[in-house]
Amino acid sequence: MPKWLKDAVFYEIYPQSFYDTNGDGIGDFNGIIEKLDYIRGLGCNALWINPCFDSPFKDAGYDVRDYKKVAPRYGTNTDLYRLFGEAHNRGMRVLLDLVPGHTSEEHPWFQESRKAEKNEYSNRYIWTRQAFEGMKGFPYIGGESERSGVYMLNFFKCQPALNYGFGECKEGWQLPTNHPDCVATREAVKDVMRFWLDPGCDGFRVDMADSLVKNDDENKSATCAIWRNVREMLDEEYPEAAMVSEWNNPKRALSVAGFHMDFYLNWGGNGYSTLMRDYESGEDNSFFKKDGKGDITRFLNEYLPRYNAVKDDGYYCLLTCNHDTLRPRYNLDEQELKITYAFLFTMPGVPYLYYGDEIGMRYLDVPTKEGGYQRTGSRTPMQWNGGKNAGFSICPVDTLYLPVDTAPDAPNVAAQEADENSLLNTVKALLRLRHEEEELQADAAFEVVYAESGKLPFVYRRGDIVIALNPSAETVSAPVDAGDKKICFSIGSGKVQDGKITLEPQSFLMLKS
Ligand code: NOJ
Repeated sequence: MPKWLKDAVFYEIYPQSFYDTNGDGIGDFNGIIEKLDYIRGLGCNALWINPCFDSPFKDAGYDVRDYKKVAPRYGTNTDLYRLFGEAHNRGMRVLLDLVPGHTSEEHPWFQESRKAEKNEYSNRYIWTRQAFEGMKGFPYIGGESERSGVYMLNFFKCQPALNYGFGECKEGWQLPTNHPDCVATREAVKDVMRFWLDPGCDGFRVDMADSLVKNDDENKSATCAIWRNVREMLDEEYPEAAMVSEWNNPKRALSVAGFHMDFYLNWGGNGYSTLMRDYESGEDNSFFKKDGKGDITRFLNEYLPRYNAVKDDGYYCLLTCNHDTLRPRYNLDEQELKITYAFLFTMPGVPYLYYGDEIGMRYLDVPTKEGGYQRTGSRTPMQWNGGKNAGFSICPVDTLYLPVDTAPDAPNVAAQEADENSLLNTVKALLRLRHEEEELQADAAFEVVYAESGKLPFVYRRGDIVIALNPSAETVSAPVDAGDKKICFSIGSGKVQDGKITLEPQSFLMLKS
C-alpha cells in the first residue's frame, strides 16, 4: 500500500472545464499547471484527471481513440509530463483515468478488428461468427463492418467492449479468459499503464472496473483475477502507484481484486445517497438538509459493515461529487455544505473533492454536450472570479465549451478567498486540520459514539478525537462522556457539560484532549 495515500486528499478535474490558457474556450494542461498552487493551497495533494486522451469525444473522452496520445485540445504528451513534474515539485500526485473495458469505435485496434481477414486484433473485441448471429443478453451492433459478425458494446454505441474472455463460455464465439488473445488484451492495458507511469503518472482511476470478463460468476472471480495480476505488476514495478476503482463493492474491489481505493458511489437509494441526494421521491430527506428528516442510520447501516470488512485491505472513499453526479449544491445551501464537508473530510478512507464543489458551484440546466446528458450540468466551467467567463477563459462567450454560471450570485474563488467565513475557507480549514491530525486521516480508527434513528446529533470518534454534528435547524443534545476533551474546532457552536454534548442549529464540533 503506497504510504502517501494515508494523508491524501484528491481533487477531481474535468479538464475541459478547469482553466483555459490559450483562449480556445476549453481547459488545458497549462491551465491545470497554473492552478496547482491554488489546489495545493486548498489542501488537496493529489489529482484525478478525467480521460485526457485522443478521442472523438462522444462520451467526453471515455471513448479513447489512442491511449498513448493526449487529446490535442489539452496540449501534448510533453505538457502532461510537465504537469507530472510540476505536481511532484509541490508534493502532489496525479492519477489519470484508465478506461480498460472499451475503446472508441475509432481506435486503430477496432479498425483492424472489424476487417474481414483475420489479424492480430480480430479477437481484441468480442464478435460472433457471422453477421446474423446475435448476442443473447448483451448489447451489440451488426451490419456496419466488412467482417461477418456482430460486436459487443460496453456502454454507448461508440464504445465496443474489449475482449478479456468469458467466465463461462456458452457459445462457440465466446473465448475463455486464458485464451492467448484475451491475455493479450490484459497485457495491452498493462502496457498503457507503464507508458504513463514511466514519465511520472502516479496511478489510475479505473473506469467500470467490474466490466472486464463477461459471463463472470457472481463474485466476479475472473475479473478480480485480472486486477490482481495488474496489482502484482504495480507492486513489483511501481510500488508507489495507486489505483482507485469505479466499482462500489469494497469487499470485492479492495480485498479480492487488489485495488487500493474504491469509491462509495451515489447509487439511488444506497447509504451514501441518503447523505446529500435523497430527493428523488420529490421530498428531500437528505441527512445534511437543514429541514430534511435526516437519519444517519440509513448511511451507517450500509457503510459500517462495509468499512469494517475492508479497513485492513484498502480505502472505501467518500466524495463530494463526481462528473456523473448532480452537484451537492443542487439541493444544499452554503451552510448545509459546510457541515456536509466537515463530515466527509473527517471520515476514514481517502476523500475526493470534485472541482468547484469547494465554492458550492451550482448544477446548471444546460443542453447535453459530448454524451453528458443530465451529467452536463455538473461539468460547467470553473468559476475563478467575477470577470469575463468567470475568469475561466478569455474566449468570446459563444465559443465556450459549456456556458458558465451567469447568475448574479454565482460563487467564485476570488470572492470566497476574500471572505473568511466562506465555504472555500471552511474547506481549507478542514483540510488543514486533516493534514495536521493523523487521527483524522485515512487509516485512523472510526467508531460511532451516538447515532439514533431519527435523532440528532451524530457523534463519532476518530482515534481519540470526538466529533459531533447537527445539520438541523434545532438545538440538539446527546449523552456523551467527553472526559477532559475541549472543543478544538467548530462550525456554529455548542458545548460539552455534565456528560452531555449540546449543538446549536447547523453546527459541527471537534473535541480533543
Ligand atoms: C463511467 C464514467 O464515469 C462515465 O462518465 C462514462 O460515461 C462511463 N463510465 C463509460 O466509460
